[in-house]
Amino acid sequence: MEPIVLGIETSCDETAIAIYTRKGLLANLVYSQLEHQHYGGVVPELAAREHLKKLPILLKQALTEAKLDIEDITHIACTTGPGLIGALLVGYSFAQGLSASLKRPLIPTHHLEAHLAAAFIDTTLPTKPFLTLLISGGHTQIILTKGIGQYQLIGQTLDDAAGEAFDKTAKIMGLGYPGGPKIEAVAKQATNPITLPKALKQRKDAMMSFSGIKTAARQYFSDHETQPNIHANIAMGLQQCIAEQLCRKLNFAIAQTQVDTLVVSGGVSANQYIREQLKQHTNAQQLFFPDLALCTDNAAMVAYLGYLRMHDSHVSTLQARWPLASLKPPRDTYGA
Ligand code: KG4
Ligand code: ZN
Repeated sequence: MEPIVLGIETSCDETAIAIYTRKGLLANLVYSQLEHQHYGGVVPELAAREHLKKLPILLKQALTEAKLDIEDITHIACTTGPGLIGALLVGYSFAQGLSASLKRPLIPTHHLEAHLAAAFIDTTLPTKPFLTLLISGGHTQIILTKGIGQYQLIGQTLDDAAGEAFDKTAKIMGLGYPGGPKIEAVAKQATNPITLPKALKQRKDAMMSFSGIKTAARQYFSDHETQPNIHANIAMGLQQCIAEQLCRKLNFAIAQTQVDTLVVSGGVSANQYIREQLKQHTNAQQLFFPDLALCTDNAAMVAYLGYLRMHDSHVSTLQARWPLASLKPPRDTYGA
């Protein structure tokens, strides 16, 4: 029987359900919770309550779109971390209920591994090692990747994630949440982008830092709030500064590992300016990005990862923190 994998994603503020088969995606639904906008950031308890409301509705809709009956689902994949525990708990309990009632295997999936997998839904994984740059709202990491489940951390942020710098700067300027897309849109009007300090200039390694950039942007804004076009000039300055650091640190990682194939994933990889800078200013020979719609949180990546890890069904705990390097390759490829 052809596997038909249901994916469930509830690690943060997107409630998402998707259905994946070998032929491709049959449904891919994402509800971005607007309820948090009012607070300028994600409220964990609110996120959990919204997941609880939206999951059954999205499941019904996904089955209708895919022209399937719930009984047709052969596997259930669900994010079990890293993420907000209350939010994960809702998704995983929902998945456990389905798994028990339908008697189908339940595959716990790692959110960041799913982001990485998103780049390969419509194409094949490189056969040689590559570097993965994961840039999201909670993580910024450079990982030497030999295949699914074979990860070695090369560099990561010492403080904030790159997405956090976007979100917090947007909040300071009153642009709304999530900040990344707002900053990207406003930056297009920049006439004289500000110059922000380069982070960790002395460090000749792939470690990163984004909190100083955010603080410098905040300081500049409070000192020059009335300047014409200030929002756009700060937004572009921030994008430039973040892109510069990502390129510089990736070039260290490329030199250190001698690996020059690059996969960029996670919410911030939706940023067109950053994509362009990575193409132009890194020493990567080949670059992969997910489809724009699959950069931010979604369940298509979870369903696809569930397909790749079809034989890895087990009872899992939830993990707010979960290092990628602790994962193992999918069971069928290493014969365990
Ligand atoms: O991967 P994601 O949806 O959720 C996490 O796993 O964190 O990433 C969300 C992050 C947010 O910080 C958001 O502002 C950022 O990705 N983001 C962007 C863009 N779209 C989303 N950052 C810059 N430019 C964008 N176009
Ligand atoms: Zn994410």
